[in-house]
Amino acid sequence: MTDTTLTDSLDERARELDREHVFHSWSAQANPSSLVIASGRGARVWDHAGREYLDFSSQLVNVNIGHQHPSVVQAIREQAELLTTIAPSTVNLARGEAAKRIVAHAPSGFRRVFFTNGGADANENAIRMARLHTGRDKILSTYRSYHGNTGAAVVATGDWRRVPNEFARGHVHFFGPYLYRSEFWAETPEQEGERALQHLRRVIEAEGPSSIAAVLLETIPGTAGVLVPPPGYLAGVRELCDRHGILLILDEVMCGFGRTGRWFAFDGHDVRPDLITFAKGVNSGYVPAGGVIIDEPIAATFDDRVFPGGLTYSGHPLAMASIVATLDAMASEAIVDNARDIGDTVIAPALADLADRHEVIGEVRGEGVFWAMELVADRGTREPLPAAAMGRIKSALIERGVLPFVQDNRIHVVPPCVVTADEVAEAVAAYDEVLGTALEGEN
Ligand SMILES: Cc1ncc(COP(=O)(O)O)c(C=O)c1O
Repeated sequence: MTDTTLTDSLDERARELDREHVFHSWSAQANPSSLVIASGRGARVWDHAGREYLDFSSQLVNVNIGHQHPSVVQAIREQAELLTTIAPSTVNLARGEAAKRIVAHAPSGFRRVFFTNGGADANENAIRMARLHTGRDKILSTYRSYHGNTGAAVVATGDWRRVPNEFARGHVHFFGPYLYRSEFWAETPEQEGERALQHLRRVIEAEGPSSIAAVLLETIPGTAGVLVPPPGYLAGVRELCDRHGILLILDEVMCGFGRTGRWFAFDGHDVRPDLITFAKGVNSGYVPAGGVIIDEPIAATFDDRVFPGGLTYSGHPLAMASIVATLDAMASEAIVDNARDIGDTVIAPALADLADRHEVIGEVRGEGVFWAMELVADRGTREPLPAAAMGRIKSALIERGVLPFVQDNRIHVVPPCVVTADEVAEAVAAYDEVLGTALEGEN
């Protein structure tokens, strides 16, 4: 067998095993993906045969530091030699170092971190802390949100994934700001922000403020469409929470750790949460990890009272070592600054130029390496581009060697924070080519 046939056959073998034995998330199983990824580096991944793709999805918007960052891989290797696992009740140096680095990016007063295996259980435990701290039950969150796939996290979710999983009590939803498809007949960001706050105020009053433990928000709803809130909205939510003794939980699972060009997305919004949930970018998912950063008054609730929650792998050494190395590399290599600069100077103008030239783009919005292009069949009516056309766009981008993040009628432009200007130009050329024919057959 030649080398090429050998590598081709590895790709085929991977597909065959997958078809036979793997059950996939959020999918009907009869229609499997055929995309094989064997390895990667930076913003690129490839299959066994060496067919390369530019990763403008960061997988599930988690590989902020890029694929296979050498110092993170090395740290995992070294930790594996030293100690691969240990119970959460023990004291472990890597865990303390990871927690110290995480709180260093949080507002002053945040001192402690509860570690989880990912984002859903981070939200799950933040909700539990809020309920125990306040003695209240209800959690308010937005319809356009995703908070994870566990009991309370999936019921806090606003999108379709909640409905088939809605078994838990105490969750109420409201509409957050989204000017392009305003629920409030707004025409300016100021109107949208003010009216969304008025709507939330009414929901709180109607639900009974003293029954509400927390408002849980993605600082910037991500999967829902990179919905950057208008100036003043999050500060207004904070004010409403303060008025009624309600806690504010900000879900930074997708938007945190560099994605927006800031360490936390809320750093740009004049708001101080009570609990911050994180996962994804904290170690780019090299080892599954997430957690809750806890403000002192809430942490103090559990000084003498048992916190009734835990996980076998809370603070897992391999995850902790990867967090330490990730956050050190992100700081020393100015990776968050790169996300900001490339967003401001390269991605923003390139997407604005695409929107000028392609009728199919209804709106472009975002910051850092966190953008969405909303595609419409008609700019006047803003009718979303149908699923079949979105499917064709996705396949055409993959054929051109770009891995896109396609959600509903949007392409999310979400490369790793280490992406270069040349890589952005390469992806934009592919978007340009594909969007040129996107409306064919639609009108
Ligand atoms: C904002 C947000 N919160 C929570 C989650 C759930 O994280 P995980 O899949 O690690 O449980 C996600 C996942 O996409 C997310 O985007």
